[in-house]
Amino acid sequence: VYSKSKEELVSVPEGYVVCADGVCRGVFSQLPPEYQSWETEDRGDCLIIPGMTDLHVHAPQYTVCGYAMDLELMAWLEAYIFPEEARYASLDYARSSYAAFVHDLVHSPTTRVCAFGTLHVEGTLELMEQLERAGFVGYVGKVSMDRNAPENLSETEGEKNLREWLKLCSFPHIKPILTPRFIPACSDELMTAIGAIQADTHLPLQSHLSENPIEIDFVRQLCPQADFYGDAYDRFGTFGTNGSTIMAHCVHSGPEEIRRMKENGVYVAHCAESNFNLSSGIAPVRRFLEAGLKVGLGTDIGAGTSVSMFRSIKEAIIASKMYWRLMDSSKKALSFPEAFYLATVGGGSFFGKVGTFEPGYEFDALVIDDKIIRQPVPTDPQNRLERVIYGDDCRVVIEKYIQGRRIGLS
Ligand code: GUN
Ligand code: FE
Repeated sequence: VYSKSKEELVSVPEGYVVCADGVCRGVFSQLPPEYQSWETEDRGDCLIIPGMTDLHVHAPQYTVCGYAMDLELMAWLEAYIFPEEARYASLDYARSSYAAFVHDLVHSPTTRVCAFGTLHVEGTLELMEQLERAGFVGYVGKVSMDRNAPENLSETEGEKNLREWLKLCSFPHIKPILTPRFIPACSDELMTAIGAIQADTHLPLQSHLSENPIEIDFVRQLCPQADFYGDAYDRFGTFGTNGSTIMAHCVHSGPEEIRRMKENGVYVAHCAESNFNLSSGIAPVRRFLEAGLKVGLGTDIGAGTSVSMFRSIKEAIIASKMYWRLMDSSKKALSFPEAFYLATVGGGSFFGKVGTFEPGYEFDALVIDDKIIRQPVPTDPQNRLERVIYGDDCRVVIEKYIQGRRIGLS
């Protein structure tokens, strides 16, 4: 089962998906003659679906995932997140905490990630190495932050640390991404340096945008010259013009901000569960799609509570229904195929041709054994898939392939 377009899923019962050198050749109901002599494997009655891209996740926050949800963004960061991230100054702590995150990610539907580390160079390299060893493809960012945070989580030489870290990144599949935490935590000087690095290197960049009203007011005070929050990034050259850029949330983005994101090709990482948990609001995902923005889904751990992209799909659909009901009845809810597309092709496109089984796409695939939830049996593969995703039980993922390489799930 895979996306043919944003609106259309296709399924090929008893079909063949063909992979050569990590790239998909297509899906066939009969094996074409040219592949008859190729090695074949039979997955019986399992579903085979594309792998998913988690476009926004904070790996160090996995240790506080699932509690401390009583505050909104700024107070939540200060009370729970900054003290936790400060612990990653210890490489031992980073090693054991990241091991738990990576283990659970291996057993999740995720094949590609765009992850935040912390501001610590050694700890972030440890996260990259663990993801590399587990077989993932992705981007990891050493977080840049030098203001409005406790002293032990505030850089005095942010640019130097960033350049040092970049020199030490040499992993084949896990690449660096520039990661200014968000405008409130980054001085003009640091943002200027990051903008210059992106202009030189065209490295990708990830950050946060228009998540919470208190945060947005704060940005207005910090950058009175900016027309809107996204314009503050744009003035430093860090809003898509110098390299692929992901902005998480965009819950309160207005028409001007959305227009600029479209012009600059900025990705939205839509993190619906996080937006519920931090009382941030409901992101206007239909508006993003109507405006032609690039949109993927993120778990946003630890404001999201699970590494499971099944959950991100489900919450995105629920959020879009509430947006339609409570905010704007002209913005129809996401259909299941649309939300599935966002989790696979939407986020996958950040990596190129990734997220479906059309010929030429990199072969990222999941084998799904839904026996544990198959009672009574829906026979239509798309109904089975929908139930798998709403059921949100990662134990159904029994095999995973990334760029054609089989990932060990032991
Ligand atoms: N904005 C700045 N930092 C964070 C973070 O860690 N989580 C979320 N949800 N928003 C942020
Ligand atoms: Fe985040």
